[in-house]
Amino acid sequence: MTAVKKIAVLTSGGDSQGMNAAVRAVVRSGLFHGLEVYGVQRGYQGLLNNDIFPMDLRSVGDIIQRGGTVLQSARCKEFYTAEGQQKGADILRARGIDGLVVIGGDGSYNGANKLSKLGINTMGLPGTIDNDVSFTDYTIGFDTAVSVVVDAVNKLRDTMSSHERSSIVEVMGRHCGDIALHAGLASGAETILVPEVPFDMDEVADRMKANFAHGKRHSIIIVAEGVGKGEDVAKELMERCPTYEPRVTVLGHIQRGGTPTPFDRNLASRLGDFAVRSLIAGETDKGCGIIKGELTLTDIDKVVNTKKDFDMVTYELAQRLSQ
Ligand code: F6P
Repeated sequence: MTAVKKIAVLTSGGDSQGMNAAVRAVVRSGLFHGLEVYGVQRGYQGLLNNDIFPMDLRSVGDIIQRGGTVLQSARCKEFYTAEGQQKGADILRARGIDGLVVIGGDGSYNGANKLSKLGINTMGLPGTIDNDVSFTDYTIGFDTAVSVVVDAVNKLRDTMSSHERSSIVEVMGRHCGDIALHAGLASGAETILVPEVPFDMDEVADRMKANFAHGKRHSIIIVAEGVGKGEDVAKELMERCPTYEPRVTVLGHIQRGGTPTPFDRNLASRLGDFAVRSLIAGETDKGCGIIKGELTLTDIDKVVNTKKDFDMVTYELAQRLSQ
């Protein structure tokens, strides 16, 4: 395998805080190692539109602290087709770009996998708030999203306690309850509902009643969106126990904004540099991750075809501590 000389970077799918820090790391590490580095605007859609431009040290200045992505992001239907993928590979080849770093979630990794089969060396960086990418303990943006939720729950507690109400907080996580779990543990939520763990609404209502009976003045119920709508949970609780007047807060895209935490910036910086060094070392079609503090490479096929284990030990701890 020939070592890469020109690489490009793109961000794809739902954005996440820390993507900018990852782009900065890819660009600066690439330049440090003597590569030419290009940015692709608007993910795979930009690739198909040939929206590709050279990046230098200054083009990633003053972005490490910013949420969003300066490269912008998109979800691109055309790139799901074999023709779209071939067009993308041809565009990169015509520009002499032989390596591509893709920052995104599983869908974005699939695109990188296809391009590698068409002769482009690719690396995936896990950029999504959901923490649902396998073979990495953390994805870029997850830590910031959790702190957004914890901050919101702190505020909700104040008003719920004044009125002795229960608060239902719907958080993101289409298929993964990690935001709900980690924010729930950190904010002392009384109940955490996630798609990975079946639950019985009668038990949820009984637990809420017991909380108030024990002298609590609020009951916080965090619902991952993969479980369903917070409004539906509220309706079911109202039917079983109207006394504690549930109020619903849907945090929505607020969870994807704001300045990334130091943890996310450092994770993104380490992974971005690692992706470049791995391409230079001749690696391709790999997802970069961090497992127990160590940087790791895993075949993208394996990453996208393996469901991440849910952390039941932490889930049970959260249950025990919120009595
Ligand atoms: O995958 C990340 C995510 O933030 C999910 O948690 C959420 O369901 C989805 O993206 C929202 O997507 P969109 O930005 O397209 O509304």
